[in-house]
Amino acid sequence: MIHSNNHKAQKSLGVLILAAGEGTRMESSIPKVLHHVGGRPMIFYTLRLANAVKPLAIGVVVGYEAERVKTSVQGLAKDCQIARPISFILQKKALGSGNAVLEAMPFLKKFKTVVVLCGDTPLLTYESIYGLFQSHEEQKGQVTLLTARLANPKGYGRIVRSPLGEVQRIVEESVGTAKELAINEINSGAYCFEVEALMSGLKEIGAKGPKKEHFLTDVLELIRARGGKVNAYVSQVPEEVLGVNSRIQLSTAERIMNRRLLERLMLSGVTVVDPNSTHIDADVEIGQDSVIYPGTILRGKTKIGKMCRIGPYTHIYEAQIGNECVVRMSYLDTCRVLEKSEIGPFSNIRPESVIGPRAKVGNFTEVKASRIGFGSKVNHLSYIGDCEIHEDVNIGAGTITCNYDGKAKHKTTISAKAFVGSNVNLIAPVKIGRGAKIAAGSTVTEDVPDEALAIARARQVIKQ
Ligand code: UD1
Ligand code: MG
Repeated sequence: MIHSNNHKAQKSLGVLILAAGEGTRMESSIPKVLHHVGGRPMIFYTLRLANAVKPLAIGVVVGYEAERVKTSVQGLAKDCQIARPISFILQKKALGSGNAVLEAMPFLKKFKTVVVLCGDTPLLTYESIYGLFQSHEEQKGQVTLLTARLANPKGYGRIVRSPLGEVQRIVEESVGTAKELAINEINSGAYCFEVEALMSGLKEIGAKGPKKEHFLTDVLELIRARGGKVNAYVSQVPEEVLGVNSRIQLSTAERIMNRRLLERLMLSGVTVVDPNSTHIDADVEIGQDSVIYPGTILRGKTKIGKMCRIGPYTHIYEAQIGNECVVRMSYLDTCRVLEKSEIGPFSNIRPESVIGPRAKVGNFTEVKASRIGFGSKVNHLSYIGDCEIHEDVNIGAGTITCNYDGKAKHKTTISAKAFVGSNVNLIAPVKIGRGAKIAAGSTVTEDVPDEALAIARARQVIKQ
């Protein structure tokens, strides 16, 4: 059983993923399976599903931009810790899904049963693939298909059944008659085959359709002609079968995936005020009782703690936000915000910055590769770059760290409890001592000792 708790592989089961197609309808220089859904190349989801089935091995058929797809799959496998061995099979020419499986015969021969998945169906659920496999085992046929009943079946292969309901064949959109195309049960592109039956059927498939392709779906009739039995397992969640062949379908997949991820978060105790305007990637984690306000985009491996308030209109990429933080209308990239800190509105936090705990970065403030310590505040209109700010520092409005001399970047250090007045330029490298005060409007070019007051501005002259 796929669901067994031990991690023993299924006896003599392999999974084959078809990913050699160019994806002509995408009108793209990027191979179709590498287009992103939920912030991940869509083949990631197929790979994860393949792994969950616990096969002895996973085969991936590559062809168009083979090296690029292979490198990406290897990276994804490492990233999501896929324990199964992965073999790559090269389909020399894109002669159709039937030809792709035929090329994989040396791989398939090692198994009794194989689950075949397409790399362009990122929404398929584990429950359905498990159901497909289980139904295949129970019914003891040669093939079991995952099918779905769709209100609009356009573009998919249609399932032709006998009056008794037995699956007879699949008719592809490009070759179907009007009557056949009116059938609303479709082929998801996920199948479970007995390898022996698949092998003998495949060899006989002929070229079909406008592109003279070998359709994998034609193998059903050939298997039946040899006395084999074809069964279908009907999906309980028809939206999962969406095959991404165009950018329009890509956007539909994105919407459904996003909804799923948001629902998972909501069920785990996160408030998403407006799911329609909130976008999150597959790897984002959010702690309980955090609230995500409208117009918020959370990308990459962003982690948000408990009891945070994020948004509205906030974009966070690859950042870690601690518990009880508030981030309003801001842009954060590859940074860390530690607990009980407040960011925004209108802050730009750039990579390698670490802020907090209990720190504040306010409106129109840019922070780059800087450390802002415990309880420190940079509340208004400042640029803080390559800067180390220790605890309980107050930075006045309009303070600029002048970190770049045209050739190199230099560091600014501001020690604990220092007070920097408004509109100060700190010419790096420079160090402000503990408890030091800088008068408003100063341009500081030399280090300021602990507890000292620095005034570096022209004296006011009054003329009448
Ligand atoms: C295919 C099915 C169709 C099903 C639909 C579900 C066939 C003939 N048709 O149609 O019945 O309803 O998926 O989404 O299989 N591929 C290769 N090599 C090739 C051609 C395709 O590896 O030479 C791969 C593609 O990368 C893709 C998969 O096979 O992952 C399906 O190919 P695609 O062109 O998307 O077929 P559909 O028209 O979607
Ligand atoms: Mg497709």
